[in-house]
Parts: sequence; structure tokens; C-alpha cells
Amino acid sequence: MLKELKKIQKEALAGLNKAGVLAEIEKIRVGYLGRKGRLTEILKSLRKLPSEQRAQVGKLANDIKNKLMAEIEDRLKKIESRPRGERVDITLPGIVAAHGNKHPVTRIIDEICDIFVSLGLNVVEGPEAERERYNFEALNIPLDHPSRDAFDTFYIKDDLLLRSHTSPVQIRVMEKEEPPVAVIVPGKVYRPDAVDATHSFMFHQVEGLVIDKNITFSDLKGTLSFFANRMFGDSVKVRFRPHFFPFTEPSADLDISCIICGGKGCRVCSRTGWLEVMGAGMVDPEVFKAVGYNYEKYSGFAFGMGVERIAMLKYGVNDIRLFFENDLRFLRQWR
Ligand code: DAH
Repeated sequence: MLKELKKIQKEALAGLNKAGVLAEIEKIRVGYLGRKGRLTEILKSLRKLPSEQRAQVGKLANDIKNKLMAEIEDRLKKIESRPRGERVDITLPGIVAAHGNKHPVTRIIDEICDIFVSLGLNVVEGPEAERERYNFEALNIPLDHPSRDAFDTFYIKDDLLLRSHTSPVQIRVMEKEEPPVAVIVPGKVYRPDAVDATHSFMFHQVEGLVIDKNITFSDLKGTLSFFANRMFGDSVKVRFRPHFFPFTEPSADLDISCIICGGKGCRVCSRTGWLEVMGAGMVDPEVFKAVGYNYEKYSGFAFGMGVERIAMLKYGVNDIRLFFENDLRFLRQWR
């Protein structure tokens, strides 16, 4: 028994001398001193020994136990006091941190905003849950307008809805500030449309509003032409097509020459050579009245565009749903 104990001591110490890391030391501790450890077993079996042996074996076993515990303690302290750099194995391969990338819609929003910021507009945002006054009334959209129907707007409750465009932020800005005003407004908008390749119940718009003395349609045209060339390239042509919006007069849709076929006519532009990219116009005097601006003194222009549409054109994406499905195989293309 005494010999056996000496052997255990020798082996345990030899093991400790070889152990370089915490896990190895712990393994030795468990192997000898754990509940089923070799030394523990001997200590447990002491009472079966004849009493004349018990004292001697017991003393040695306990001495070894104490010695081992002290050694282990000592080694743990040494490892812990090592400088950090020495505790890691620098030859192991590093941990590659997963890194994401901007969503393509965010990229387009940033690009649009940057272009207008370079012209002096400020980026502002507004609430997605909006009151009727901001989404409709102050924008000169009458009560009987079809878009005020619950089928065309998500209503949360009376007089609280999910904004169906970013135009309400025009009103919020004008209520807070006196002209001159020059803002660009990105954000989410909501419409209860059936989802398909070109429709989503949530999408993004960017709204623009510029108001000062002597702002004319030429300023609108110059600004949006500059934008179109920055966004889609210098060879892109623009055209303004008369249209109607309640909050602008006159109003227009802005088309750019098709960026796929260069204007010759293809599937993407439905053989017209043109792509509609946004609505725009001169701010209607009724809107100025609603916010208490003097419409004889000031004039301004406004515009609004759908971000996903622009992203689809620019990146050649043919289904809007791809932007919202969170399929990383799709999204990682913008790394
Ligand atoms: N709010 C319009 C829409 O959602 C887009 C729009 C058209 C915004 C003309 C404007 C504008 O500011 O002047 O379809």
C-alpha cells in the first residue's frame, strides 16, 4: 500500500510537471483527487485496513494529498500570472469575426441622400405612425380621396395610420421652420398592396422639399437632372411628363432614359425607352396655407421617389421580395 502511494505521488507530480495548460492540470486533479480519483479511493478504503497499518498509510495518503493540492494551487497561480500574450497559443488560426454589409436598400438611400446633401439639403426623418392631417389634409388630399380608404392605407385607429408616403414630413418640417427650407427625407412607407414582384406592403421612399423666395420649376429641373446624372450616369437623359398630385401644382412624373437599353426600347422599359423614377412638382399654395406660409412671398418644389424601384433598376434586381426575404446569398452580393 505504501509503495502504491509513493507510485501515485510520483506519477501525479510527473504529470503536473508536463501539464502546460489549465485543462491538463484540471484533468490531473480530477484523476487523483476527484470523487473517484486514485488517491481518494485509497483514503476511502482506509477503514478496511487493519488498524496497525491504518495510521501509517493514512498519514502518507494525507501528506500526498496535501502536497498535491499545494502543487496544483501553485501551478494554477503561475499560469494565471503569466502575461496574457503567453497564455494564448499564437500558432492557432485566428477567429474570423463575421462582418455584415449594408443592405442594398440602405446603400441606395445613402447614395440618394449624399447627392442631395452635396447640393445643400439636410437629411431629416419623420414618424411612421402618422396623423391624418399630415398624411392627407395638410397635403391637400381631400376626405373623399380614394387613398384615404382603409383599403389603401393601414389604419391603426381613428386618426392614426401608417404613413403611405414620406410627404407628411414636408408638413412637419414647414410647421417647425420658416423658409428657406431644403430637406431630404428618407423613410419607410406602408400600403396594403398584395405582395408581388413589384409591390410590397412596406417599402422606402425619399422625399425632397426646397422652399425659398424665387424658387422656380427650372430649379426643380436642374436639381433633378443633376441627381439623375449622379445616380445613373452622365449619359442619362430626363424628361418631365405632366401628371397630377394634390400637393403640387404643376406636377410631373420624372422619367429617365432607360439605363438598360439606353433609350432604344427593351423589356425593362416596356419598349418606351423611358423609366419613371419619381413624382415632383411646385408646392401647391394650398399646402403653404395649411402650414401658415406666405404663398405670395415663397415658392418651392417637392419630389418623392421609391427607393426599391431605383435599387431594382440600378442593381438589375427583378423581384422586390428579394430585398425583404433576408436570404444572405442575395444580400452578400453587396459586400
Ligand atoms: N407622395 C407621392 C407618392 O407617394 C410621391 C410624390 C409626388 C412626392 C410628388 C412629392 C411630389 O413630393 O411632389 O406617390
